Amino acid sequence: MEIIDNLMVFSSRKPPQFNTMKDNTIKTERLLLRPWKEEDLEPFARLNADPRVMEYFPSLKTREESDASVKIASNHIERCGWGFWAVSLIQTGEFIGFIGLDDVHFTAPFTPAVEIGWRLAFDYWGKGYATEGALASLKYGFEKLQLETIVSFATVQNMRSRAVMERIGMHHDPKDDFDHPKMPEGHPLRRHVLYRLNASEWQRRATHE
Ligand SMILES: CC(C)(COP(=O)(O)OP(=O)(O)OC[C@H]1O[C@@H](n2cnc3c(N)ncnc32)[C@H](O)[C@@H]1OP(=O)(O)O)[C@@H](O)C(=O)NCCC(=O)NCCS
Repeated sequence: MEIIDNLMVFSSRKPPQFNTMKDNTIKTERLLLRPWKEEDLEPFARLNADPRVMEYFPSLKTREESDASVKIASNHIERCGWGFWAVSLIQTGEFIGFIGLDDVHFTAPFTPAVEIGWRLAFDYWGKGYATEGALASLKYGFEKLQLETIVSFATVQNMRSRAVMERIGMHHDPKDDFDHPKMPEGHPLRRHVLYRLNASEWQRRATHE
């Protein structure tokens, strides 16, 4: 895995606020994690309107909602130099979804925190892309941003997402399970699992590789 960048090495552990470097791009064996482009909007709206992709979200997204979430992700990347990156395949240039890091935008016992997340178009599942992009994002978070901890969360039922968390070495303590504050009480998707990974664990793993 190779990180191509003109990024600064940040020595301070917190807060994660960094200079804007507009063309931040992470390259893995098969993927490019990059800032969003206008032409990503249409395929991203398509995956956000796909019931298979959105099974564990409270609703499908309209084109306007999908575009608005791209704007939020883009602004974060502009502002901080990192975020939920658009992902394309190096070989074909096809846009496949997003993978990356973001600030957690709600209050819970584990916040403030930086989360790792992913959402891929259905046709690109089952190929290891989420795991590959997530490992690059963890590397960025621990080695560039010098984060102490990265979390990830999902509805209890979202086993594919939980499998990515487990494949990238994150661990789940049932004592951390929580009700998502943005979901109404009684909603079947309200209960969430929390996974964590600490810098020391990442470091230990990197040393043994
Ligand atoms: C969550 C999500 C990204 C996981 O996608 P995924 O394809 O299951 O995960 P990966 O990309 O890591 O692929 C792993 C699978 O590819 C297989 N695979 C095939 N080729 C591979 C390769 N070269 N390298 C690694 N794995 C490979 C693995 O064996 C594994 O298969 P399995 O699911 O049968 O065990 C996807 O289901 C998704 O976008 N879901 C909707 C959005 C969502 O729920 N997001 C998370 C909200 S919390």
